[in-house]
Amino acid sequence: MYKDKILRLLQSSKEGFISGEELARKCGISRTMVWKHIKSLERDGFGIQAVPSRGYCITSVPDILRPGDIKLGLKTRVVGKEIELLPEVASTNTRAMERASNGAPEGTVVIAEVQTGGKGRLGRKWISPKGNLYLSLILRPDIPMHKAPLITLMGAVAVAEAIRKQCALNAAIKWPNDVLISGKKVSGLLTEMSAEQDRVRHIVLGIGVDVNMELGVLSPDIRELTTTLSVEAGEKIDRNVLLREILRDLDHWYQVFLSNPQDVLSEWKSLNFTLGNRVVVSGAGDTLDGVAQGVDNDGRLIIRLDDGAIRTVAAGDVTMKKKR
Ligand code: BTN
Repeated sequence: MYKDKILRLLQSSKEGFISGEELARKCGISRTMVWKHIKSLERDGFGIQAVPSRGYCITSVPDILRPGDIKLGLKTRVVGKEIELLPEVASTNTRAMERASNGAPEGTVVIAEVQTGGKGRLGRKWISPKGNLYLSLILRPDIPMHKAPLITLMGAVAVAEAIRKQCALNAAIKWPNDVLISGKKVSGLLTEMSAEQDRVRHIVLGIGVDVNMELGVLSPDIRELTTTLSVEAGEKIDRNVLLREILRDLDHWYQVFLSNPQDVLSEWKSLNFTLGNRVVVSGAGDTLDGVAQGVDNDGRLIIRLDDGAIRTVAAGDVTMKKKR
């Protein structure tokens, strides 16, 4: 599409300005057609400055996800080979689970601008207004079911690293897979799977990242535990660029997971701040109070209780306590 090509040329113009003549030549269309496409981009929300004898220059981009931008230079092996971008869906995880059952290839990503029934861990809701990222990745690793939690840890590593690189923010991981900045949650991951005789058939790795939303849409109790990337960075974040980086990092860490899962665990450990702290773990039946000692090879949290007993926990919520 010429409009997309014009957008790409404007975005990659190093001098800032690119003349109508050059755009026309590179696209093989008339200058009048270029002008019409520029007007159409403006209607889409792009700010475009036109200066006689210099040409056109992008001054602002609208905060909408665009397939062309997400895929720009995305040289991944598996992740994002197929992308489904929806304006609204109940839950990208539910949609991805359906698509996986219907044979969607590994690496397919379902993305939505808004979720009306976003799902969180432990049966909670995930509030999903405009301005954030909601995506679900279909994977088909040949692994036993008990190794599936490692995929979620892998996802948390990829998201934390993408945020660190793209937004220069100090993202860290709280067990099992919350990504936090300055102690507040900015991203959560929810893995769902289908299995047969203890082997994984497919896994859907769902990721929600709070990027540009207004924190005011959240209820006060959730709001005080939550932050957004734009609040932390002090500026609006380009969601297309961040999403592309997340897909790249997912692709990288998935390859690492397949070849050497221990490397995923070491990276997770270096990004996590749960281990070594006094914690209370709830939501896993009983409540455990002790020191987070480590994670085992399947990603379960190892806790040393005050009486010295060691317990491992596969799911739950961790609250950090001040060190004594
Ligand atoms: C958590 O409770 O921390 C996990 C939140 C996971 C939310 C994401 S948003 C995309 C995907 N679709 C869903 O319905 N949930 C996950």
